[in-house]
Amino acid sequence: MPVKVIVGMQWGDEGKGKIVDMISGKVDVVARYQGGANAGHTVVIGSEKYVLHLIPAGILRSDKTCIIGNGVVLDPAAFIAEVDGLAARDITAKGSLFISVRAHLIMPYHKRLDRASEQSASVTKIGTTGRGIGPTYSDKASRLGLRVADLYRPDYFRDRLVQSAKQKDSFLGSFYGEEGSDIDAVVETFMGYAERLKDYVADTGAMIRAAVAEGKSILAEGAQGTMLDIDQGTYPFVTSSTCVSGGACTGLGIPPSAITEVLGVMKAYTTRVGEGPFPTEMGGQEGEDLRAAGGEFGATTGRPRRCGWLDGVVGRYAVEVNGVNSIALTKMDVLDNMPEIRICVAYEMDGERLENMPANIADMARVTPIYETVKGWMSRTAGVSKYSDLPDGAKRYIDRVEELVQAKVSIVSTGESRAATIVR
Ligand code: GDP
Ligand code: IMO
Ligand code: MG
Repeated sequence: MPVKVIVGMQWGDEGKGKIVDMISGKVDVVARYQGGANAGHTVVIGSEKYVLHLIPAGILRSDKTCIIGNGVVLDPAAFIAEVDGLAARDITAKGSLFISVRAHLIMPYHKRLDRASEQSASVTKIGTTGRGIGPTYSDKASRLGLRVADLYRPDYFRDRLVQSAKQKDSFLGSFYGEEGSDIDAVVETFMGYAERLKDYVADTGAMIRAAVAEGKSILAEGAQGTMLDIDQGTYPFVTSSTCVSGGACTGLGIPPSAITEVLGVMKAYTTRVGEGPFPTEMGGQEGEDLRAAGGEFGATTGRPRRCGWLDGVVGRYAVEVNGVNSIALTKMDVLDNMPEIRICVAYEMDGERLENMPANIADMARVTPIYETVKGWMSRTAGVSKYSDLPDGAKRYIDRVEELVQAKVSIVSTGESRAATIVR
């Protein structure tokens, strides 16, 4: 198993953190390939709960090498806070955690731009995490970004900073009436970060390629999910990175031929944080009840997550786009008390049945789900760790999901703890 990719199949928060933690026990390297501190990956070990934003969940196992790849956008302050937070809980990152020299830096003006755009009345609100993710990827594509390596060439860093900041300041000033950047202060702060980061910085692409050549096993930890992917998701209501499995190649510096397996993580229902169409969203009390049962509040921003039924159209699409070999179906236990469960099998628009989702977001917002209703199992799956101990109704649900999305469920998660997991 050289490279196994773990990818979210919905709109994020599928329980990737728990599954990464589980599988990381058997690998040598755990690597994040995209996104930034917008992620919130929760791992529960005994009575301890950890929420990781930027650092791969493999850090919780002391013998793993962890990598923040070139495809990630790095907020040095968030990184330092996370490292310090782990240290306070006796988890040492130094020596086992590495940041790519090619990762782009989230600068103060990126966060200001993100927030200003979200508050603006004249720009579509996305409901971002406000972490500066979009503007940083924009600068990367515009070739105006600053990278980790640049921190160690102070003259070059300042020169690039001036170019990039000038452009943003002009826009922030004229469009949002904001004040300009204090270049000297930014340089001073980032030179301080450079000092704190220097023990972690490495050519992680070379490291991973060497690990692949040596036959080591690598787990690529996806953040967000397929429907939040910049190309394959519900654009423009997406994040700004390549969340799908293909992103692991560009975001880590490895060839497609190195990827041997893709594990898709899918919740037994659906959630979404932020704006944008969500065909199977539940309204009113029903949605609130599911939110309460699943504890569906954002791990990064604390925002209540929008909740809805499982969407088979989304699931099938995610299987196809990512090349999902098998699925980890999470949060089964949350459906334990549902007398009836609905599964969306297709959409309808203008009286026509759609097997695939429309590309235009206005169309996506007006499709209506075609549901199939199954009887709930109304008994406990919570904590179950053997497939044979699942109630028949739960087994039937899994069978139906497999049939709908055309992939096997290899892992079923029945609770937040490590023990509450079924491996088939
Ligand atoms: P991620 O972003 O995909 O890693 O997911 P999050 O950590 O943001 O959200 C998943 C939440 O569900 C976390 O609070 C997990 O502890 C929790 N969780 C994961 N798997 C299960 C499960 O099978 N059952 C229950 N009840 N909770 C789970
Ligand atoms: P994990 O890895 C759920 C959403 C935001 C917003 C959109 C764009 O924990 O699954 P951004 O700040 O990235 O520009 O916001 O993407 N979003 C997530 N939703 N889980 C996440 O990460 C998310 N990361 C970003 O809510 O709708
Ligand atoms: Mg999350």
